[in-house]
Amino acid sequence: MTAPIPALRKLFIKTYGCQMNVYDSERMAEALGASGYVTTERPEEADMILLNTCHIREKAAEKVYSELGRLKPLKAANPDLKIGIAGCVAQAEGAEIMRRAPVVDLVVGPQTYHRLPAMEAAVRRGERPVDTEFPEEDKFDHLPLGPRGGPRARRAPAAFLTVQEGCDKFCAFCVVPYTRGTEVSRPAERLLAEARDLVERGVREITLLGQNVNAYHGAGPGGDWSLARLIRALAAIDGLVRIRYTTSHPNDMSEDLIAAHGDEPKLMPYLHLPVQSGSDRILKAMNRKHTAEHYLRLIERLRTARPDLLLSGDFIVGFPGETDDDFEATMDLVRAVGYGQAYSFKYSARPGTPAAERPGVAPEVMDDRLQRLQALLAEQQRTRQEAMVGREVGVLFEKPGRMEGQMVGKSDHLHAVHVSDPRAQIGSEMRVRITQSGPNSLGGDLL
Ligand code: SAH
Ligand code: SF4
Ligand code: F3S
Repeated sequence: MTAPIPALRKLFIKTYGCQMNVYDSERMAEALGASGYVTTERPEEADMILLNTCHIREKAAEKVYSELGRLKPLKAANPDLKIGIAGCVAQAEGAEIMRRAPVVDLVVGPQTYHRLPAMEAAVRRGERPVDTEFPEEDKFDHLPLGPRGGPRARRAPAAFLTVQEGCDKFCAFCVVPYTRGTEVSRPAERLLAEARDLVERGVREITLLGQNVNAYHGAGPGGDWSLARLIRALAAIDGLVRIRYTTSHPNDMSEDLIAAHGDEPKLMPYLHLPVQSGSDRILKAMNRKHTAEHYLRLIERLRTARPDLLLSGDFIVGFPGETDDDFEATMDLVRAVGYGQAYSFKYSARPGTPAAERPGVAPEVMDDRLQRLQALLAEQQRTRQEAMVGREVGVLFEKPGRMEGQMVGKSDHLHAVHVSDPRAQIGSEMRVRITQSGPNSLGGDLL
């Protein structure tokens, strides 16, 4: 006797936060695929809606409650609709959400979503399960390898692959060590198998993910592997043409990884290396455990290895105790580095973190500093983008552009590039001469 085929149900996932949440959302969809779910882009036709949440900055929980408010009419229209909260807000405030929001049917943390099929079955029985454990077992051992929509479905040409999770660094402002738990690296051979599977399904570029991805030290043949060793093994996979990784911590930028930027052609010349502040006093108060000088030296060594490396970063303005001089030190550091791209945020006090107890900087001072920093970063970004005009770059085409006949993709340096040429096909990596620089993208011609 064969098992009954479950009826097709529709799953809508809304993803907030970082790339690791994007990866997790895909894996949750795969896990629920076993319970008969296929994904939909339309919440109004869903049988299950999952909000994969982020807790990194202010009002994270409030955002979840207001989104739940917007979902209420859908639940009224379809009483069978199930709503779940996943991700980092679920981890931090799961029980409270269950108490405050009767529309929620399940809460699942980032480390237990392999249990979603069982939780979904419990929901069907009328239960309201909450699972925010940090379990003994590794969730990745219990997740299906293979996509929703059948084992050999094609994938978009660029994919994420989480290689490391959690963080032991405890920066004084950050919730990640609490929501994601301690650092865990996945075994190298599993990652190589997952990467080969992605490549067989059409993936040409893989971005390796981790909250501290360069602290990767997964078990592999011959002992623990570093991120550099993993990258070199991935580079040997035929058909994989590009490798990236994010997010890195300056203290884990090892010699072998810097060397890989110099001599591994598949490792792309773009690096997101957050520094947060240019003031040693503030870096110390943040518990970053390095100085501005250390960071600048590191950038020098990276640029010696790979002169055209494009740098990206994260900055926090208005960290408790930040003076005008501290902020000027950040501006000086930004001028010294010259970023191709960067994210900057106003400090946001997060409950349970050490910095949340400290007296804050006045909101109008924060606003002013953020504006000045963002103006500088935007100017650097524009200058570096315009400098690409006339150059020849590699582009991996990902999707049709907004104009008829246009194809867009990412350059080696992660700039969006569009061309109008029928030879440019999704999944092809081609040489392009850049001819123009617009507000958010570059334009060019195939060579
Ligand atoms: N692991 C990465 C960053 C993860 S969080 C790293 O160490 O670089 C992404 C970014 O969010 C951080 O780099 C930081 O700039 C910002 N961030 C984190 N907590 C914040 C807070 N409480 N307030 C403002 N920005 C914050
Ligand atoms: Fe957060 Fe710091 Fe860990 Fe990055 S290194 S995730 S900022 S605690
Ligand atoms: Fe947000 Fe969690 Fe990522 S707090 S940034 S979704 S690790």
